[in-house]
Amino acid sequence: MDSNFGAQLPSMKTLPPGPRSLELASRLQDVESRNVTWLSEDFPVFWDLAFGSNVSDVDGNVYVDLTSAFGVAFAGHSHPSIRIAMDEQAKCLVHGMGDIHPSLSKVKLMEALATLAPWKETRTVLASSGTEAIEIALKTAQLHTGKAGVIAFKGAYHGLTLGSLSVTDRKDFRNPFVDRLLETTKFVSFPSSDDEVARVLTEIGSILTESETSGIPIGAIVIEPIQGRGGVRIPPEGFLQDLKALSKATGVLLIFDEIFTGLGRSGVVFESEVAGVIPDLICLGKALGGGLPLSACLGSRSVMEAWPENQGEAIHTSTFLGHPLSCATALSFLNILKSEGLVLGSVKKGQYLLASLRASLGSSCHIHEVRGRGLLVGIELRTETGEPWKGQGARVARQALRKGLIVLPAGRYGEVVQLSPAATITEKQIDFAVACLSDIILGRDL
Ligand SMILES: Cc1ncc(COP(=O)(O)O)c(C=O)c1O
Repeated sequence: MDSNFGAQLPSMKTLPPGPRSLELASRLQDVESRNVTWLSEDFPVFWDLAFGSNVSDVDGNVYVDLTSAFGVAFAGHSHPSIRIAMDEQAKCLVHGMGDIHPSLSKVKLMEALATLAPWKETRTVLASSGTEAIEIALKTAQLHTGKAGVIAFKGAYHGLTLGSLSVTDRKDFRNPFVDRLLETTKFVSFPSSDDEVARVLTEIGSILTESETSGIPIGAIVIEPIQGRGGVRIPPEGFLQDLKALSKATGVLLIFDEIFTGLGRSGVVFESEVAGVIPDLICLGKALGGGLPLSACLGSRSVMEAWPENQGEAIHTSTFLGHPLSCATALSFLNILKSEGLVLGSVKKGQYLLASLRASLGSSCHIHEVRGRGLLVGIELRTETGEPWKGQGARVARQALRKGLIVLPAGRYGEVVQLSPAATITEKQIDFAVACLSDIILGRDL
């Protein structure tokens, strides 16, 4: 392996997927449920090694990863300090009994989270995946308000377990299970202009009033401060403040799903720093575990005290809650966030990435918008007639893979190319990514 692996540019030995990837795809097809991994002639490649912003596959091809694997590897893949923390913890305690006989690393992690959180006194429930953190937030809101109804936003992605799926707005995920989804969610538009803000706030106000007299009373509003899978959609300035004011006036809890945006991805530790609003609950996941599965629902002590005191049995828990190894890697990640200035890095590199993309893509009729904050960036693609270019994000991702670049599609119609690189990505790697995406999108390479 190149000594510069982590900060290097792509090096392709085969046209991906190479023979070993194809062989593994064929074996996988024989054992995995068919709904899980998309397998085709030109997709996927099987990962073998990952460090920094490089990934190599089983055929020895080296890629630049502009996804940090779903936004998880914000400090870069396999950060040396996280690996040390993992080794140290693994020597003594890998798994414990989270809510029965907890570990030191669980206590330390929750203390660290409390120092970052926007409330004076913070209480946290840990879990393993983002979707579980959302479940906890929804349960908390119901306990606190006594109301089961929720307002969520069109285009939202909060996870796929039944509670979180009920607030996720994607037909392909919902339709097969629609009979089991709670009829407690009202979806409203995610605003993209000031005009829309006024309309959406009025609509929310009406739903809140109507739900008190008919239907299921609303106890929570759940929002991604920037929609991630929905296509990197940023609401107009001031919207989150207005939403907070409305939720406060009506006694409804405001839940920020910061599973993607949180801990530096969007250029701040928590979105509440930008918006100047403090939500009632914050959900974290993805980057939190430093590469291991870990999520959390955080709230102020007063909100979280809606949960009854444990009388010998936790009424919400799970086998891996407070997993010692994940808590140790999370602690290490939070230390790196501070010691390596990753939040500022996200701001600066995000600005560089956005500016380079805008300059390079120019004003092509296929570019509707290049937008983002921090290192969460989206390129929205349009057809020549100005319609969302359905499925084009995935086509760009497949083309990019052949050139050694890993990106993901996003958006309701798959019309967005989503970029969420590590905060440790180099300028050279960004320059390569911008040139590669521009060639593909501007058709210089098709
Ligand atoms: C904003 C947001 N919320 C929730 C989730 C669900 O997290 P997980 O896939 O870990 O369950 C995701 C995953 O992409 C997400 O982006």
